[in-house]
Amino acid sequence: MACIKTLLCVGACMTTWSMTTGDTSVPKAQNVHWTSLDFQTILKWTVEESEHTYTILYSETNHNNWMDVDHCFRTSETECDLTQELEALDKNYEADIRVDSEHLADEFGLDYDFPHTYAPMFNPYKESNISALEFSLTDVDEGTVILNITHPLTSISEGGKQQTIKDILKNDLKYKISYYKSGSTGKEKKKIADSSSAEVSGLDAGQSYCFMVAAFIPSRPKATQQGAWSTPQCRRGDTHFTQDLSLGAWVGIIFMLVTVIIVFITATVLCCRRNHKRQKNIPTAQSSVPI
Ligand SMILES: *[C@@H]1O[C@H](CO)[C@@H](O)[C@H](O)[C@H]1NC(C)=O
Ligand SMILES: *[C@@H]1O[C@H](CO)[C@@H](O)[C@H](O)[C@H]1NC(C)=O
Repeated sequence: MACIKTLLCVGACMTTWSMTTGDTSVPKAQNVHWTSLDFQTILKWTVEESEHTYTILYSETNHNNWMDVDHCFRTSETECDLTQELEALDKNYEADIRVDSEHLADEFGLDYDFPHTYAPMFNPYKESNISALEFSLTDVDEGTVILNITHPLTSISEGGKQQTIKDILKNDLKYKISYYKSGSTGKEKKKIADSSSAEVSGLDAGQSYCFMVAAFIPSRPKATQQGAWSTPQCRRGDTHFTQDLSLGAWVGIIFMLVTVIIVFITATVLCCRRNHKRQKNIPTAQSSVPI
């Protein structure tokens, strides 16, 4: 009995303690992470079932100048788009997700250190993923093509003009070009180009080639240097139709040839047999005729 009393007391004490510190009863944001594509940067987190709202603050790292975000003030969402707040220059940012709790504010005042979760440091300029680039292919001569690469738009505007990834990355943006003879596996060649109008020369005349491009930013850390590969585009060799044929077409052609040959052989064999018979019959007919 004494034991149960003690347990109850401990339980009660702990409950009171957790109520006064607040920390254990207020669910903090968890799994805080950034996602960023073409400089659209979103902070995401998860919360356990809760009636609390969250307020997002951000600051340039080491500046300790925390600002809040209009559209992420006392939000019940679990993400906050910080694209317009974070400058896409080479700067590190921090963010903080603070639990809003009137109960805590009433009890401890607004200066109270609210339960909160820091986001990992993020640098959009260095870490934003870059989507696949589009490009067109133009033949210059038998051994040379030009790839005209266009840049994806970002959701950042400057002076009323929507910026492309090139406007942001400027001369840090290079292009990785991968090309291979179509139909052949392996033997893929790579080339880094500085200009969005990139020339690839030294191609085998008459061969058809396929090309892919990806944004390449050598000034970034290795893990984020390369953007997504575009879908391949192929240049037709000025060639015999045979090179463009798919496996299916080849199977079709071989099947037809084999059929023709079989029909031919069968016909020949049948003809020969019939002739043979006739020839056999003729002498017998002759021999049966009395001389
Ligand atoms: C970039 O893309 C990779 C691969 O899809 C992903 O793992 C990473 O989280 C992305 N980074 C950002 C900041 O969105
Ligand atoms: C590249 O493509 C863009 C848009 O498709 C076009 O405006 C531009 O003139 C092209 N440049 C070259 C060098 O072909």
